[in-house]
Amino acid sequence: MSEWGSFDTITKGKGIWLIDSKGNKIIDAVGSMWCNVWGHSNPQLVKAITTQSKKIQHSSLFNLTNEPIEKLADNLMKISPGMNKVFFSDNGSSAMEIAIKIALQYWKNTGERNRTKIATVENGYHGDTFGAMSVGYVPEFFAKFKEQLFPTIQFPVPNKYRIPKGLTFEDHQNECLEKIEKRFSKKDDIAAFIMESGAQMAGGVIIYPEDFQKKISKLCKKHDILFVLDEIATGFGRLGSMVQYQEQQSIPDIAAYGKMLTGGYLTMAATLTNKKIYDSFSGEFNDWKHLFHGHTYTGNPMAAAVANENIHMYEKFNLIKKIQKTSKIFSKYYEEISDIDIVGDIRHKGMLMGIELVSDKEKKIPIKTKKSINKVFFEEGKKHGIYLRTLGNIVMLVPPLSIQGNELELLLRRTIKTIQASKSKII
Ligand SMILES: Cc1ncc(COP(=O)(O)O)c(C=O)c1O
Repeated sequence: MSEWGSFDTITKGKGIWLIDSKGNKIIDAVGSMWCNVWGHSNPQLVKAITTQSKKIQHSSLFNLTNEPIEKLADNLMKISPGMNKVFFSDNGSSAMEIAIKIALQYWKNTGERNRTKIATVENGYHGDTFGAMSVGYVPEFFAKFKEQLFPTIQFPVPNKYRIPKGLTFEDHQNECLEKIEKRFSKKDDIAAFIMESGAQMAGGVIIYPEDFQKKISKLCKKHDILFVLDEIATGFGRLGSMVQYQEQQSIPDIAAYGKMLTGGYLTMAATLTNKKIYDSFSGEFNDWKHLFHGHTYTGNPMAAAVANENIHMYEKFNLIKKIQKTSKIFSKYYEEISDIDIVGDIRHKGMLMGIELVSDKEKKIPIKTKKSINKVFFEEGKKHGIYLRTLGNIVMLVPPLSIQGNELELLLRRTIKTIQASKSKII
């Protein structure tokens, strides 16, 4: 960290632009950590917060409820096929902790004591708290806590850029699925299978091949294993569908939303379950079937009010269609980006693009330096008027979802210039 010195102070935002205390304007190419939908300072979203702030700012969901949160529960049910109830929290990691606890307790509540293990995929990411780290595990982030994380059963994800020697991509996918099926058939000890929906983000922008998620969901059903999907970074339009699991034809037992739920304005997350799961938690007080979990800001009415307005705007402005259309602009730049000699692979879906940097295109060797690639790109990006972040050797483009076509073109042109300018500093 010592190499950073001091950080720039952001004082304002307008649309896709972040403005610092010195008046510099940069494009928010990471959508303020992948959550921004309508750009900064959107008047409708700001109004939803200020209006609610005059009524009740926060009131607990313990023994009480509030109007915006009830409306939000209804709204979430409308957009989430197969889901029946929702448990609110205030960040994505917590939503995943809740998903894990619900999945494990479901089996206790239904009298099945042996299903205690969690299955996941390699390089998943579900947040930075201990449960979320355990069911994820990106080695670079979590290795220091390895001893404290609970064990999980991890399976590989097909990677089109790095297909094992001698296999076709189809063989590679089948091999991954066969490993899952083999383990599922061996012993009835798995409580739940947890994965990001549609793609892995922090684990390297790995977009699942068609049907991969669907086939896992089918295996889970066949072996009576709960299927848990993390839609926090990939749902709400990021990959071009409101709900990724619907596009993937893989209805889960438990799903989690976060990030874009409030348009990226206030902190809120949600864990949804189907009726089967919910029913297992109801009973007499003395049955002790209820879920012991809660956070101070669970169900915050201001966050709920802005989330409701956000969801309303998705419909009003037909945002998903707009994302699908604007997203095509990325492909116009594939060739120019791929031609840069340190670019090994481009992975793109919806409003997400990952550009993998390599030191040897032929051998696909990821660029590794003693310096922080992230810092080099941040500084070069700033010179070119963009706020860029890399994850290891992957440059991530995760702009506000409603970015206009001409703005996206500008972002892509500036990204190309930034990669070219950064090259000499990282090889
Ligand atoms: C897929 C996924 N799940 C969960 C989280 C954790 O969310 P939060 O940072 O709000 O705790 C993230 C954050 O990046 C994520 O990408």
